[in-house]
Amino acid sequence: MLVSSRRAAVGSESRCGRRGPGPHYEPCIPQTNPPLAQLPANAVPPTGDTPSSNSPTPNGGLPTWKLALMVGIGIGGLIVLIGVCTFVIFYRRKRRRLELGSSPPQGPKGRALGLSQSTFTYEELKIATDGFSNLNLLGQGGFGYVHKGVLSSGKVIAIKQLKTGSNQGEREFQAEIEIINRIHHKHLVSLVGYCISGAHRILVYEFVPNNTVQFHLHGKDHPTLTWPTRMKIALGSAKGLAYLHEECNPKIIHRDIKAANILLESNFEAKVADFGLAKFASDTDTHISTRIVGTFGYLDPEYASSGNLTKKSDVFSFGVVLLELITGRRPLDRTRPFDEESMVDWVSKAFAHTSLRRWQF
Ligand SMILES: Nc1ncnc2c1ncn2[C@@H]1O[C@H](COP(=O)(O)OP(=O)(O)OP(=O)(O)O)[C@@H](O)[C@H]1O
Ligand SMILES: [Mg+2]
Repeated sequence: MLVSSRRAAVGSESRCGRRGPGPHYEPCIPQTNPPLAQLPANAVPPTGDTPSSNSPTPNGGLPTWKLALMVGIGIGGLIVLIGVCTFVIFYRRKRRRLELGSSPPQGPKGRALGLSQSTFTYEELKIATDGFSNLNLLGQGGFGYVHKGVLSSGKVIAIKQLKTGSNQGEREFQAEIEIINRIHHKHLVSLVGYCISGAHRILVYEFVPNNTVQFHLHGKDHPTLTWPTRMKIALGSAKGLAYLHEECNPKIIHRDIKAANILLESNFEAKVADFGLAKFASDTDTHISTRIVGTFGYLDPEYASSGNLTKKSDVFSFGVVLLELITGRRPLDRTRPFDEESMVDWVSKAFAHTSLRRWQF
């Protein structure tokens, strides 16, 4: 719009006049008619001009009324042009503010955060889970209940509902949407959409059918994981984590790597889940000081004591998952003697008393 009005302005300028080197606006003189000063004294004036009004004047040979008319048209045109430009500038600014989401658009499907995922109504999700029936309950974590559901399209989903009235939950909800919106990787769980409706805050994920690593390592009544399967899980989750640390820009620190947050496909491909505690780490920062969060047994002691977060904190937690896969032990086991309750302490002690210590890691 701005371009076209600028073009129009250029066009009229070339047709009706041009700016001289001085401050004055020089009206152009139609090329078809010779200047009046050059006409012979007995020449007939151009059609429409009366002899009295056409008498030569000091204004470059133009009659005063004509000059006044042209100046009037010029000023009028300029005012209209300024008006149009001002309108265009204000209109574009207002549209950009809307696009940046300073006032999120209210769609018929619920409130939207301006992100690429779908928004769902509470009704849609209620239907998908059969009224959030207990039969569809997959589990419960710090955030709230997780239900299995089927959308009208036939897509199977996992629906995580935030416990109402939790400020921390609200922060995690926003963080999870913002971070997971940017990441797409085979070894990371993807977000299908979300729902903000009244007090309800719900995240909708792709359904990962084969439970968690925690379930397969420590749960009852299922076959023990084979070594090749453990290796596959370790490799898959390492790839997901390496993507967050090395390939994302800005890099992402997960902050809650643990066996319960690694979901499994039917063929035991691993998918890292739960980005509610994740943080962006800018390239230039070597560490960020934060409130300490995470899960006991997996928490990096350096981060726990200093609050300085680096991607090494995730690597520590991932090391605990690897030890869990190798030993089959829980990271914290209160049934053990005090100095063996923590798996990391137990492994360190064992390490110090075996020939393993000769290995230089
Ligand atoms: N995308 C998913 N597909 C299938 N099951 C899922 C999915 N997300 C979560 N679950 C199930 O829901 C359970 C609860 O998940 P949730 O992340 O809320 O809790 P958690 O990981 O056990 O604890 P925390 O709150 O510390 O993360 C998981 O153990 C898992 O069995
Ligand atoms: Mg979890």
